[in-house]
Amino acid sequence: MKKNYPIVNTHNEWDPLEEIIVGTVEGATIPPWEPVTPAVVHHEYLLDFYRQNGGKPWAQEMLDAAQKDIDEFVHILEAEGITVRRPSIYDISKPFSTPDFESQSSVGALMPRDVLLVIGDQIIEAPMGWRSRYHENYAYKDLCKEYSQQGARWMSAPRPQLSDASFEANFIPPTEDEPMRTILTEYEPLFDAADAIKCGKDIFVAQSSCCNRSGIDWIQQHLGDEYRVHEVEVFDTHPMHIDATFYPLAPGKLLINPERIKKVPEIFKNSGWDILVCPEPNMPDSHPMYTCSKWLNMNVLMLDEERVIVSKGEDNLIKAFKDWGFKPIECNFYNFESIAGGLHCATVDIRRRGELQSYF
Ligand code: ALA
Repeated sequence: MKKNYPIVNTHNEWDPLEEIIVGTVEGATIPPWEPVTPAVVHHEYLLDFYRQNGGKPWAQEMLDAAQKDIDEFVHILEAEGITVRRPSIYDISKPFSTPDFESQSSVGALMPRDVLLVIGDQIIEAPMGWRSRYHENYAYKDLCKEYSQQGARWMSAPRPQLSDASFEANFIPPTEDEPMRTILTEYEPLFDAADAIKCGKDIFVAQSSCCNRSGIDWIQQHLGDEYRVHEVEVFDTHPMHIDATFYPLAPGKLLINPERIKKVPEIFKNSGWDILVCPEPNMPDSHPMYTCSKWLNMNVLMLDEERVIVSKGEDNLIKAFKDWGFKPIECNFYNFESIAGGLHCATVDIRRRGELQSYF
C-alpha cells in the first residue's frame, strides 16, 4: 500500500512529486524600479525600460504568449499525475507604502519559488529583498491556510523594513573580472526562497542581491541542528537566486553553471557526487529576457530522480540529460522566461514522496 506523507513534505528536488504550486501570469505587472533593479537585471540596456515602464502592465501579446507556456506546463504536470495548485490574485497594480518606502505596484504571482521556502513540513514565507514584492505572499495565503489546517507548519521570517539602510548607496554591479559584490547590507536578514536549494539535511544557499549573510544565518538558526546550511560561493555580476547556478538534481548528481561556480563545495567531492556541467544555453541572443539570463536553461523541474521537465529548444542540455541517464520532457517556456523565470522559478513543490535523510 502507498504510504501517506504529510500534506507538505519536501526534502529535496527529486523525490517523486505529488503536489506543486504553479505561478500565474494573471495580473502580472512590469516590476517597478527599486534599489535592487540594477543589481539583478543582467542587461544594462533594460534599465531605462524599467525606469519608464515599471508598474505598468506588460503588453497583452507578451502575457498571452507566457500564458500559453504556463498552460502547457500545467497540462504536462497533470498528465504525469501531479496535483497542481494555483495562487489567488490580489490587487497587484495597487500602489502601497510602508513607513520606509513606497512602491508603484506589486509584481504578480508568477514565481512561487521566490516567496515560499518549503522544507520538510514547513512553509516559510521569505522576507524578500524587493520592495515591490513585499506583499507577494498574499497570493499564497489561501493555500497556506489550507495546508496549515491540514497539519503543515506555516510561518514567516521576520518582515523586513527595506529602508535605505538595507541597500548600499550608489551601488554599481561588478564587471566579469571583479570579485562578486551585492547591493544588500547586513542591516537585517534578507533572502528570497529561491536563494536556497534543498538536499535532504543539507541546505545550500548563495548570497545574492536578494540574500545577505544575515538571511543565511537566520535560515540556519530557524532550522536548528537537524540541518546544515552551507553557503555556496558563486560568481555572478547580477546575482539573484541559486537555481540557475547550483542544482542538486538527484542523489549523487549536481548540476553546475560553468560561469558561476568556480569551486564545487568539498562536501560533494568528498562524497563522490558526479558534477554535471550545464552546457551552453541554446536560446538565441535575439530572444528578449527582461529579468533573467539565458542560464534559465538549467532551471529545470525534477518529477523524480529521472524525469526532468526542460525548456523546449535547449537541445544541448536535453542531449546532456539523456547522456547522464535522465528522461527529459520538453515544455515550451521561452515566452514565460522572457518576463519572469524558468520552470523551477514558476513552481514550488509542496509534497514529494520521501523522507528526510543525508546524502553525504
Ligand atoms: N538570476 C538567475 C539568472 O538570470 C535566475 O540566471
